[in-house]
Amino acid sequence: MNKLKKKNIQDLLEKKDVTLKRTLTGFDLIMLGVGAIIGTGIFILPGTVAALHAGPGIVYSFIIAAIVCSFAAMCYSEFASSVPITGSAYTYSYTVFGEVVAWIVAWALVLEYGLASASVATGWSAYFVSLLEGLQVHIPTALTGPYNPQEGTYINLPAIIIVLALAFLLTAGIRESNRLNRIMVFIKVGVILLFIVVGVFYVRPENWQPFMPYGWNGVFSGAALVFFAYLGFDAVSAAAEEVKNPQKNMPIGIIGSLLICTGLYIAVSLVLTGMVTYTDLNVSDPVSFAMEMVNQDWIAGFVSLGAITGMITVILVLLYGGTRLLFALGRDQLLPKSMSKLNAKDTPVLSTWIFAILIAFCAGFIPLSKLAEMTNMGTLLAFTIVSIGVLFLRRNPDIPTGGFKVPLFPIIPILSFVLCIFLIAQLSLQTLIASGIWFLIGILIYLVYGKQHSLMNHK
Ligand code: ALA
Repeated sequence: MNKLKKKNIQDLLEKKDVTLKRTLTGFDLIMLGVGAIIGTGIFILPGTVAALHAGPGIVYSFIIAAIVCSFAAMCYSEFASSVPITGSAYTYSYTVFGEVVAWIVAWALVLEYGLASASVATGWSAYFVSLLEGLQVHIPTALTGPYNPQEGTYINLPAIIIVLALAFLLTAGIRESNRLNRIMVFIKVGVILLFIVVGVFYVRPENWQPFMPYGWNGVFSGAALVFFAYLGFDAVSAAAEEVKNPQKNMPIGIIGSLLICTGLYIAVSLVLTGMVTYTDLNVSDPVSFAMEMVNQDWIAGFVSLGAITGMITVILVLLYGGTRLLFALGRDQLLPKSMSKLNAKDTPVLSTWIFAILIAFCAGFIPLSKLAEMTNMGTLLAFTIVSIGVLFLRRNPDIPTGGFKVPLFPIIPILSFVLCIFLIAQLSLQTLIASGIWFLIGILIYLVYGKQHSLMNHK
């Protein structure tokens, strides 16, 4: 047996006992990608980042973060078109680095998808509660925030309900979830375009002076924060096993959705900082706030609705990514096999509920503001391994030909690797320690369970 327990790509591509159905097209993937990407990052984050870090230079922060993500996206695309199997970076690592690294990546992705969807659920809850208040419907304060008796909040009920409701939708099948996702993506992109088209008439160029009040340092720390806004494009690769013609469609889905979101983010941040002085933007709903400032209350209302809808799709797709990851882990028996059991709708039902209940717990009880950085840690670790993995993938003689190849090889994968390490280094010590504890727990689970039960062990 191979000491590193690597998976053979040809074996992987051959038929398995449990497979998901190939129903998704390239367009569906772009919808999934935009669904996963646009959320808190554009509706909530730009306010504080522009006010406290980058000023109007937040546009550059978005561009820098997009460049880092686009390098990683190309590496993901090469893997996703060469190894179109669910499990994303976990499966890729299994083929090039073997089981131990693959497990660590999977553990990092559970952190990314889990905490990202929990924190977006918390953001959604805040928008939802304030929307209801606007309609004179009051939810008792005790039920609207994480456990914090000093503030009078004990449980974030709306956040729990939205996570469980979306898990229920996922168990109804990928096609149904997809249809709803598509409608919600149209609404949120429509609302963003509306903001840009109306907002442009209220731009006062003097608001862009000074453009970089906090210098390049502010722009860079802004980039590390708005990086969160792009998370989710990698979740597209989780759909690899449910896509028609994955060699062509995976790169279209991953790179296409990232390009669309980058364009929208740049336009929104230019218009936003042109409409309102950056110092006034330190609010939790900057995009609708800007519309209120110019007395466009109707548009502000639409923006809030768009934000609520938009965040739902982010939670939905990240939840989806996490469940498919647990499915892949169950199928490989690094977790109990029951995690890969499908229901009548071809959905891994146990994985879906376990993942959703854990997330609902986090979203309901834990204040996630401090943990948000950990989401970036999980993502960056996965990006780092996928980037360097491409160098090894190219040496593998089993890769099917005709798939997407990263241009300027090996410069882009190496640059991607270095930039991700650079961003990891920007994270706080507290986050690094907390992540260390998370990975220790993961290694323990592997030693106690996965190592013994792994399918690779029985080959
Ligand atoms: N990119 C996602 C968002 O901004 C996580 O909400």
